[in-house]
Amino acid sequence: MKKALIIYESQAGSTADTAQKMGTYLKTKGLETTLSKASDWNKSLDPFDLIIIGSPIIMGSPEKSIVDFAKKHQSILAQKETAVFAICLAINEPAKKEEALSYPKKIIESLPASHQAVFAGVMNFNTINWFKKIMLKCMGVKEGDYRNWNEIHAWLDSIIPQSQVVEDDHKST
Ligand SMILES: Cc1cc2nc3c(=O)[nH]c(=O)nc-3n(C[C@H](O)[C@H](O)[C@H](O)COP(=O)(O)O)c2cc1C
Repeated sequence: MKKALIIYESQAGSTADTAQKMGTYLKTKGLETTLSKASDWNKSLDPFDLIIIGSPIIMGSPEKSIVDFAKKHQSILAQKETAVFAICLAINEPAKKEEALSYPKKIIESLPASHQAVFAGVMNFNTINWFKKIMLKCMGVKEGDYRNWNEIHAWLDSIIPQSQVVEDDHKST
């Protein structure tokens, strides 16, 4: 059975929740899946066939612990099937879409386009302090869960190691 690792950070919880649901989805696809916050990970990456790294974008940047994780493990990540996703709101705004598409590169510089994704996240004013709430409201940000699960699952399907897909096809025939 192929092994997947999902490494994430999260401030208000939506990236953590997305990572967890990605893990559940990958399990339904037959992958043994491990989930960890970047700041908690202190083991080897060797056993994993697929490594997914995810971060929210806050004030234009991914979480520092994710960037540090990617830097620390860059040589092994380059040898593995590695995929990165950013969670943000800008991807849903036509004027900011181009900038949003550059967010995964702020986590890891060089990955094939198919292994990078930018997903719309969640805005819940109850999870942030009053100052940020006022700032975001002034910027016209509206509350909502903007995640598109069909899009997220389609991306996961595209990054599942091909040998896993072949294994599953044999099982179903
Ligand atoms: C203080 C703050 C700043 C944010 N800055 C950005 C930003 O610069 N660009 C963007 O696209 N989204 C921005 N967002 C939206 C977040 O990326 C989005 O809410 C995401 O789902 C948060 O993930 P989390 O719940 O895992 O922390 C910001 C959200 C907050 C609360």
